[in-house]
Amino acid sequence: MLYAIQSFMTNSSVKKKKIFIKSYGCQMNVYDSNRIKDLFVNQGYALTNKIEEANLVVLNTCHIREKATEKVYSDIGRIKKIKNKRHKNNFKLVVAGCVAQAEGKEIKNRSPLVDYVVGPQSYHKLPEMIDNDYSNININDEFLQNEKFKNLLFNSTNKVSEFVSIQEGCNKFCSFCVVPYTRGSEFSRPVEEVLKEIQNYTANNIKEIILLGQNVNAYHGKGKDGKSKDLAYLINKISELDKLKRIRYMTSHPIDMSKSLIDSHGTNSKLMPFLHLPIQSGSDNILKAMNRKHSVKDYIEVIEKIKSVRPDIALSSDFIVGFPGETDKDFEDTMRFVEKVKFVIAYSFKYSARPGTPAQKKDNVDIKIKKARLKALQSLLKLQQVNYNKAFINHNLEILFEKEGRYKNQYVGRTIYNQSAFVSHSKNLINKIRKVKVLRSTDFALECQL
Ligand code: SAH
Ligand code: SF4
Ligand code: F3S
Repeated sequence: MLYAIQSFMTNSSVKKKKIFIKSYGCQMNVYDSNRIKDLFVNQGYALTNKIEEANLVVLNTCHIREKATEKVYSDIGRIKKIKNKRHKNNFKLVVAGCVAQAEGKEIKNRSPLVDYVVGPQSYHKLPEMIDNDYSNININDEFLQNEKFKNLLFNSTNKVSEFVSIQEGCNKFCSFCVVPYTRGSEFSRPVEEVLKEIQNYTANNIKEIILLGQNVNAYHGKGKDGKSKDLAYLINKISELDKLKRIRYMTSHPIDMSKSLIDSHGTNSKLMPFLHLPIQSGSDNILKAMNRKHSVKDYIEVIEKIKSVRPDIALSSDFIVGFPGETDKDFEDTMRFVEKVKFVIAYSFKYSARPGTPAQKKDNVDIKIKKARLKALQSLLKLQQVNYNKAFINHNLEILFEKEGRYKNQYVGRTIYNQSAFVSHSKNLINKIRKVKVLRSTDFALECQL
């Protein structure tokens, strides 16, 4: 009896440990951060958004451009001051993600206050590493994709839309890119495993699933019959779930836009008419030097085919300016290409030389030229985005509402074309799909009326 009382008192008076996690980079890192949260919540940790309160700080990092990596080191510098004030057993710092994979031991050499380094394919080992506190093996950079997914937990993170990683890694080896080295070779999760995860979310009333992969359209997961299935098969399979209303996927490579996937844009009404299809450059010379494995003409043929089955498809892309050897003429080709295709949104970056990639040593475009090209490209892309959004004024669009807006009674969501949109309404619209009328278009979103 006495023992029972004591243990009750201990449980209630012991404060829960807290975890703080920051995600850098792409959506796949956001997904991984959610999984890391699930692992530690399962171990009794509470979440905090204040580093000062945390016992465990996880930086889930990105290595794609130099700036992304440097941001991690400057954050570590700031965390150092907090850590120095705490007892070393009560504050552990973890570097996870793509910088962890790429730099491994180097991180501990550069920042000795980092306690654990864990790569994107082995973070399921983190609770065990921390429990056992092996002082000599606190780095894990193995590629354990299969084992990882079998050891994760999948709890809903919100009420409306969930990311689901279905494919990881990349075998394309574009000459500028670190992903094949940080995430490893292409791996696809089995269909049933993905379905189970999604059913878990739809049981919680999730209405939208965004299928993720560094090369999502190279998906080739094993089906129930043991045979390899493609992305179109998976999309059609998950669209059979009644509660699921919207499906999206990203990021795709132009050479993997198969006929079955293109056709599903014409036949599957749950597949949203939005496609993020990076091309990187509008110049064939540069595409070749980038090892992209396709020409501008091939890309245009792919989008023509998609438009023939889904004429209103909204296209998005990524561009790199100032790639080694990019001439004024190459850049002009990119500008003409953008004018021709008319993207509804696109992301563009200055080329950043990355360690270990084939293009690294060739970085030869002056930074001033890179900046000027980026500015010119971004203003053209912005103009296209503004014009695209303006064309919807006075038209009706279907929105899935995701969250409250900045103002009272305001709700924010996404149109089928992935535009951000908001309305004012007296009733809570979160997780509802409604047809609205577009009143106005701001720089970033559509103002609508229900
Ligand atoms: N798998 C995707 C994108 C991966 S990285 C694809 O095949 O396109 C996301 C974007 O970052 C890329 O599309 C590219 O535009 C940009 N990027 C990658 N490496 C870069 C580098 N070294 N410098 C500048 N931008 C880069
Ligand atoms: Fe990087 Fe190219 Fe692979 Fe995309 S396809 S992840 S840009 S190597
Ligand atoms: Fe960055 Fe790794 Fe994603 S390098 S963009 S976090 S795959």
